Amino acid sequence: MTKKNLLVAGALLATLGAALIGGTSAKAAEGAPIPPAQEWSFSGAFGTFDRAQLQRGFKVYREVCSACHGLKYLSFRNLAQPGGPEFSEEQVKALAAEYQVTNATPNDEGEIFQRPGRPADRFPSPFANDAQAAYANGGKAPPDLSLMGKARTYERGFPLFIIDMFSQYQEQAPDYIHAIMTGYVEHPPEGFSGVAYNKYFLNNAIAMVQPLHDGQVEYPKNADGRAVVPETIDQYGKDVAAFLVWAADPHMEARKRLGMQAILFLIVMSGLMYFTKKKIWKRAHAEEHA
Ligand code: HEC
Repeated sequence: MTKKNLLVAGALLATLGAALIGGTSAKAAEGAPIPPAQEWSFSGAFGTFDRAQLQRGFKVYREVCSACHGLKYLSFRNLAQPGGPEFSEEQVKALAAEYQVTNATPNDEGEIFQRPGRPADRFPSPFANDAQAAYANGGKAPPDLSLMGKARTYERGFPLFIIDMFSQYQEQAPDYIHAIMTGYVEHPPEGFSGVAYNKYFLNNAIAMVQPLHDGQVEYPKNADGRAVVPETIDQYGKDVAAFLVWAADPHMEARKRLGMQAILFLIVMSGLMYFTKKKIWKRAHAEEHA
């Protein structure tokens, strides 16, 4: 091995070592089982959102979760942008108008006033402030869900974390949200005295009562009158998790597309560079051997 090769090999080993150590040093959430991995249309380098799923997930958020959870970084108009649920402009206008929002500036008499929402407005939060939110929920404020589709992460442990390095697994957050939705236990162990018992919540005592029940949210129907997908906790959980992933990363599709284009460009560029190099050095080689 030449000196240069040794250096390269050393650097590679160091990187791999750092990845391995990094993978084990962060502690897994103690006591809580690892959420099972679900199938997501948006996973991987080519993954995209399923529009119909995002629309259903939004329906679940709106009809169930929005009673307690805000979505403060999302504007109504985001729902019509490409790469998301892609509701029509008219749908979004009508939807925004159903909400009452606080106007940013006071009226002529100096009073802050409420008015029907417009597409450019952000989603109003269900509570005036965190203290009120906590008071209404037995002491724990329901967190804003804008970034929840990215926020929750955990170690998946050996050997999964090694596989994950190659498969680019990044769906901890939606897997976790789905697991929380489906993880309620009807009969908690004896002696448990919390609000609710959830298999996947840290220490199991969660202050959120089970939000979803089979048949609770009506889904679009096929011609034969049956729902396009099952109206079950499991399916609601997947749909709302997918919606929250989009809400936390509304430009994911554009970002992945750009990444792919950059890689394609680099491949073509390397080819061109290779042949250019060969051409330029051809004469030098020829002269050397002359
Ligand atoms: C009745 C009010 C209420 C409703 C409805 C509700 N939640 Fe919650 N949620 C809470 C509260 C309170 C917490 C804080 C729980 C805690 O920290 O113990 C919470 C916490 C959460 C968390 C965070 C868990 C964590 O790891 O900290 C997620 C995710 C969540 N809710 C998702 C949802 C989704 C999705 C829906 C709709 C399907 C929903 N919630 C409906 C009250 C609610």
